[in-house]
Amino acid sequence: MNKYLVIGNPIEHSLSPKLHNFWIKVNNLDAIYEKKKINENKLADLILEIKKKNILGINVTVPFKKAVIPYLDKLTFESESTQSVNTIYLEDDKLVGHNTDIEGFERSIQDLKLDLINKKALVLGAGGVVPSIIFALNKMKVSEVIISNRTKSKAESLKYLFKNIKIVEWGKIPEFDIIINATSVGLKNEDKMNLDTSKVGKNKVFYDVIYNPSETNFLKAGKKLGNKTENGKMMFIYQAQSAFKIWHGIQPKINTEVIKILD
Ligand code: ATR
Repeated sequence: MNKYLVIGNPIEHSLSPKLHNFWIKVNNLDAIYEKKKINENKLADLILEIKKKNILGINVTVPFKKAVIPYLDKLTFESESTQSVNTIYLEDDKLVGHNTDIEGFERSIQDLKLDLINKKALVLGAGGVVPSIIFALNKMKVSEVIISNRTKSKAESLKYLFKNIKIVEWGKIPEFDIIINATSVGLKNEDKMNLDTSKVGKNKVFYDVIYNPSETNFLKAGKKLGNKTENGKMMFIYQAQSAFKIWHGIQPKINTEVIKILD
């Protein structure tokens, strides 16, 4: 049986195994996808298991998306540009790191029939997923990417990867067309962002990378003002679909049953 893994810390709440194992089953593959909580000092050994073909692929989540890079032989353009790897596979005996979060975000935006060309994007947060979002926004040709993070220095560090970004102080809300919450605020139902969005007006998009809960207070506030809202569910499903395609050579179907897995 072919083995696949998602690694992270914490990892208990990851829904990747449910999603991948569903697709493995409906496609009649002889495989299993498991989650594994690991410590950073075990990364090298675990990744070597792919080279030995004991494991055929690994998904990487917080906080190891950058930390895995030294143990890989090759990065794709996407993972190199973002210094962020969420999918590892073996190709011609070389360990390759790729980033499917970018595609996940981009395709979730396409689903909304949104054209972001020349639009202004405000991203809240500077953690693990933010480089992928910035890369996707640049690819979609936004006119401006503005980053606001509670710890400003972390936002400033993103300038090494993306010269074009602007940084604003946490608490300031500049004009935007789409605002993306990429912080962890909202994961708990009672979480409230220390940010006043009451004056942003209508005709904007409020996007939250969080999908559980399905409607964070951030999205509720956006909706109340009459704006379009979207959570991170489709982004998550699309990133998983891309990884599945890389490993198994099959594009698994996304239908209501798949979407329900994440409810
Ligand atoms: P990591 O930072 O380890 O990559 P993450 O979950 O990807 O983890 O990122 C957490 C993000 O949520 C960070 O941008 C964090 O801001 P800081 O850099 O200042 O820590 C942000 N965040 C977490 N709690 C927050 C809070 N109460 N208010 C505002 N931002 C918060």
